[in-house]
This record gives sequence, structure tokens and C-alpha cells, in this order.
Amino acid sequence: MIGVVGLGYVGLPLAVAFAEAGHEVVGIDVDPARVEGLNAGRSHIEDVPSSALEPLAERLRATLDYEELASCDAIVICVPTPLTNSREPDLTYLNAAGAAVGGVVREGQLVVLESTSYPGTTREQLLPALERSGLTAGEDFHLAFSPERIDPGRTDYTLPTTPKLLGGLTEACTERARELYELICDDVVVLSTLEAAELSKLLENVFRSVNIAFVNELAQLCDRLGIDVWEVIDAAATKPFGFMRFDPGPGMGGHCLPVDPFYLAFKAKEHEFYPEFIELAGKVNQAQPAFCAELIERALNEEGKPVSGSRILILGVSYKPGVGDTRESPALKIARLLGKRGGEVSYHDPHVPELPELELSSTDLEAGLADSDAVAIVTPHPEFDYERIVAAAPLVVDFRGVTRHLDAAHLVRL
Ligand SMILES: NC(=O)c1ccc[n+]([C@@H]2O[C@H](COP(=O)([O-])OP(=O)(O)OC[C@H]3O[C@@H](n4cnc5c(N)ncnc54)[C@H](O)[C@@H]3O)[C@@H](O)[C@H]2O)c1
Repeated sequence: MIGVVGLGYVGLPLAVAFAEAGHEVVGIDVDPARVEGLNAGRSHIEDVPSSALEPLAERLRATLDYEELASCDAIVICVPTPLTNSREPDLTYLNAAGAAVGGVVREGQLVVLESTSYPGTTREQLLPALERSGLTAGEDFHLAFSPERIDPGRTDYTLPTTPKLLGGLTEACTERARELYELICDDVVVLSTLEAAELSKLLENVFRSVNIAFVNELAQLCDRLGIDVWEVIDAAATKPFGFMRFDPGPGMGGHCLPVDPFYLAFKAKEHEFYPEFIELAGKVNQAQPAFCAELIERALNEEGKPVSGSRILILGVSYKPGVGDTRESPALKIARLLGKRGGEVSYHDPHVPELPELELSSTDLEAGLADSDAVAIVTPHPEFDYERIVAAAPLVVDFRGVTRHLDAAHLVRL
């Protein structure tokens, strides 16, 4: 039996994958509504349709009770690792889960951490919490780290087809973890230490953050120079080697990219090392929503309208296309900035019916387009028809380059 702690974007698809491979799975969560929903066959994660849970009802169940982990062969921890208000790692969830698993861990079990964190977390935080059981890691139970690389909404690379990295505390720990993941993953890649596995995940995300910051800065420069940034990127991307395409946009969102670099920077500073690429990328990406709000302001100004009193419709408020996740979404920052300047902001998003942070609900698209002074394309959901949007709106500001095939006087692009 396999236990999964934390049934969110990472934990639920993992629990489902093990159950689909024929294993008995118990999922632990602290949210009673999630537990109740899952046991009634209702999924709260878009990548896992409720219909996928039905055939698994015999093998997959959710509970609030950590004691149920006692009969598991392996326990995988997938709890959140966010930032505190001062943008430092917030290990509250991880420590709570570690303490709870430490209360039930049994001899012979394998415990794996999947939550993204700085190198050293598994050894320095989780291991002591588990050893409060009186058992010794690497001797009485096995311990490993295996980063989750899931990209919600993606269908070409999934859990089974994306190579799975892992590092164990000892060789025996590594072998146990390899056996576990070979049950559901086509390719398991073993690293020599826990820390190398932890850092590999951060490298992947910092790599994206730095490159996105670079093209966002390029977009700001192109704005000054009067050059079309999309044309330049399209051109550079024709090079068949030595160039990897990244697109500019309204800023970075989601649970990972705006958060993970700070985990690495935190660890680096503990060692009196100041990682400048990471900090600079964070700074540029965080400034991008303000630049986009300014572009909307300038576009309205061209029409002789101030932001104050103008009706601005934001299209797409989730942090990326095709999903309803609004965590750290730049759309929220743009909406707040325009709202502060007196703009009457509304939004349409087929994946986000309510936005409690802004006390708004998604408006009807046709009515919203007809009733706006400006429409900002922030998140290009696959459902959007840009020809219709541009035809119906009085002014369109496109931060995603999705209207490049269209030519209209009232169309402004990043
Ligand atoms: N979402 C992604 O795309 C993604 C991708 C790769 C890695 N990660 C990493 O995976 C980890 C989990 O992220 P997520 O997106 O699945 O988070 P999430 O918020 O979607 O889910 C976390 C779940 O853990 C539960 N939880 C919190 N504390 C708990 C506890 N003490 N015991 C049991 N359950 C608890 C929450 O109720 C929630 O259901 C994070 O470290 C994240 O950085 C996320």
C-alpha cells in the first residue's frame, strides 16, 4: 500500500497514477472538504477528471487520519512549500507533515519528499522530524527526495512519460525509491545525493525564471526602440541550434516559478553567497505587471481616455492558459494597479468563475467586450477567439502575442 500526504496538484495525480497501476493507495489531507469530495468521487484538480476516480474507488481513498499510513510500504509527501510575507521559505506545511509522519512511521517503510525546496531540506528538516519516532533513517526506514516535475494542463509529457529524478539517503534508500517510481514512470534517473536531486528541480525552475526575465526585459527595450519583440523572437527561433525560445508576457505566476528561486537564494545566503542572476530575474519579472498596466494606460491615453473611470476588461486571470489556478497570477497585480488608478476593472475567464481576492465574478464575454473601453489579453486560454474579440472590442492590448495574425488600428501589443 502507498500513502500520499497532500492531495493537491502534485499529490492527487500521483495517488491516481499508483492506483491506476493497480496499487492500493491512501491519501492524507488536512482539508476535510477535499477528503470528503474525493471519497465521494469528486476531483478538485483539473488534470484529474472526476470520471478517472470512479474506477479507482476500490483502491484509492482519502482520509484526515495519519494513523492509516502505518500499514503503507511507502509514504510520499507532497505538501505546499510557499514563501512567507518576507519572501523566505515557509516550511510550516512541510514541518507539520514531517512531524505527523514521524508519529506513525514504521520499520521498513520508505518515506519520499516530493515538495520543492532548497538543497538540504530532506536531511536537515524532514529526517530529524521522522527520527523523533526513535527509528534511524537509512537503517530502520528508507528516505529519499524525488522532485515533482508536473506541468498542470500539459498532456504531451505526463507523470509516466517525464523522466523521474531521485536521490536517496543511502544506496538502499535509493534502490527502494527507484522500485517505487518504476511502478508508474517509464524512466527513473538516479542522482548521488538527496541534495543533488533537490537542486536539480530548482535549476529547472530558475532556468525558466531567468530566461523569461530576459525576454521580458527585451520586450521593454523593444517598446523603447519601436521594434516588434515577437518578430525578433520568431526570427531568432529559426536558428536550429544554440537558441531556446522563451516568450515575454505579463509576468510570472503559479506556485513554482515566482517562488522557487527564493528557496535557492535563501540557502545561498546562508553560505554567504549572493546569487545575482536569481535576484535580478525575480526583480524584472515582478516589475512586468506594472509595465503592462502602464501599456494599458498609454493605449487608453491615445484614445483620449484616462484610466480613472475607464472600463477595462481583463481576459484570462489564471497564471497560465487552460487552467484555473490564480496563485501569484500577474493578472491580479495588473487589475489591482488599474483599480488603484480609478479604473473600473472586470474580467472574463472560463476557468475562474469567481475571484474572491478582487471581489469579482467572471463577466459574460460578449457583454463585457461591448461594455468596455479597453480589453487586455493577459492569459490566452484555448477557448478564446481573437478575431471575434478584436472585432467586438473598442481597444485591445495583447500581452501574449496571440493577435499577431490580425491587423487593426485599435490593437496594441507588448
Ligand atoms: N503545482 C505544480 O505545478 C507543482 C509542480 C512541481 C512541484 N510542485 C511542488 O509540489 C508541492 C505541492 O504543491 P501543490 O501544487 O500540489 O500544492 P497544493 O496546494 O495544490 O496541494 C497541497 C495539498 O496539501 C495539503 N496539506 C497541507 N498541509 C498538509 C499536511 N500537514 N498534511 C497533509 N496534507 C496537507 C493541502 O490541503 C493541499 O490539498 C510544492 O512543494 C510545490 O512547489 C508543484
